[in-house]
Amino acid sequence: MSNAHPSSAPVAPTPAPSDRFALVRADLDRLEARLRDVSDVPYPPLAEVVSQLVRAGGKRLRPAVAFLVNQIYPAPPERSLALAAAVEMLHTATLVHDDVIDEAALRRGFPTLNTVWSPSATIRAGDYMFGRAARYAAATEHPRVIRLFADTLGVIVTGELRQLYHRPVGLPSRQDYLDRIYGKTAALFAVAAEGAAELGRAPEGAVAQLRDYGLNLGMAFQVIDDILDFTATEADLGKPVGGDLREGIVTLPVMLYAEAEPDSPLLRRLWDATREGGSARTAAVDAVVAAVGQSPVIEQARDEARQMVARARAALAGLPDVPARAALDDLAVYSVGRRE
Ligand code: IPE
Ligand code: IPE
Ligand code: MG
Ligand code: MG
Repeated sequence: MSNAHPSSAPVAPTPAPSDRFALVRADLDRLEARLRDVSDVPYPPLAEVVSQLVRAGGKRLRPAVAFLVNQIYPAPPERSLALAAAVEMLHTATLVHDDVIDEAALRRGFPTLNTVWSPSATIRAGDYMFGRAARYAAATEHPRVIRLFADTLGVIVTGELRQLYHRPVGLPSRQDYLDRIYGKTAALFAVAAEGAAELGRAPEGAVAQLRDYGLNLGMAFQVIDDILDFTATEADLGKPVGGDLREGIVTLPVMLYAEAEPDSPLLRRLWDATREGGSARTAAVDAVVAAVGQSPVIEQARDEARQMVARARAALAGLPDVPARAALDDLAVYSVGRRE
C-alpha cells in the first residue's frame, strides 16, 4: 500500500489465494481448461475476446467456494465444474459491463475491452458471455440450480441498472448501500455456495447455511473492495482506484467519513461541485479520496467487513468437519485481509 496511514501497524502480507486453494487446485485447473476452450465460439474476434479475458486471470474465488462446498457435499464432477464455470463466466461478464458503465481502462492488469471496442460492441460481448454462463449453468442439469442462477442474473442486472441511474447527490442510507453490495456481489457468492450445496444434495439446513456463508462472504468482499478503492494502488489491484467516487458511487468509507465529520468542508465542496457539474468536481473528488484514504474510518469499515466475515464463518458451524470446511473458513479470513 503506497498511502498507508503513517501510524498504522505493519501488516503481514496476506498469502496469495492460490496458496490457499491447494485442496481444489485440480478442480481449478479443470475450470481453466473449460473456460479457455472457445472452440465453439462462432465469431473469431469474439472467441479472442472471451479467451483473453479468461487468460487475464482473476482470483477465481467464486469457483473455489463452489468446489470446496462440493468437497463437503460431493456432486458429479462434470456438474460441479459446470456450476463453477457458470459462476465465473457470469462474474466476468458483469466486469465487462461494469467497465463500460464506469469507463474503466484497466482490468486484471490489462486494457479493458471498452478501450478497444465501442461501448455498444463491448456490451454485446458481455451479453454473449452472459449467454455462455447460462449455457454452463444448464450443463448442471439441475433445475433448481438453473433457476437460482437465472434469478441471480436478474438481481445483478437490476443492481447494475440501479447503480447506473440512481446516483443521488449526497449519502445513501445504510440499507441502500447493503442492498447495492448484495446485488452486485454477494448474490453471486451466495449462488456459488448454495448451488454447489444443491448439486451435492446437502440437507436443506446445510444448503441454507452455505447460502448464508456465501452471502456474508460476498458482502465482506465488496466492502473490502470498496475500501481498496481508497487505499490501494492501481498496480496492486490491476484496475483503477479512486474510481467509485469519481463515478458518483458513494461507498461505506465515505458514508463513515460523513458520519465522523458531518461538517466536512471537503464533502460539502464535493456535493456542491456534483450538483453544479463541470471541472471543479475532479479536484473535489481527489481531495475527498485522499482524506478518506488517510482517515480512521478505513479501519472502521474494515471492522464492519470483519463482522460480516464473522457471520460467514458462524454459518459453517455444525457442517461436517472436513478439510474443505476449514478451507472455506480460511477463505473468509483471507477476504478481509487481502490487499489485491
Ligand atoms: C471484482 O471481483 C469485482 C467485485 C465484485 C469487487 P474480483 O476481485 O473477484 O475480481 P477478479 O475475478 O479477481 O478479477
Ligand atoms: C463490483 O463492483 C462490480 C461487479 C460486480 C460487476 P465494483 O465496481 O466495485 O468492481 P470493480 O472495483 O470495478 O472491480
Ligand atoms: Mg467498477
Ligand atoms: Mg470496486
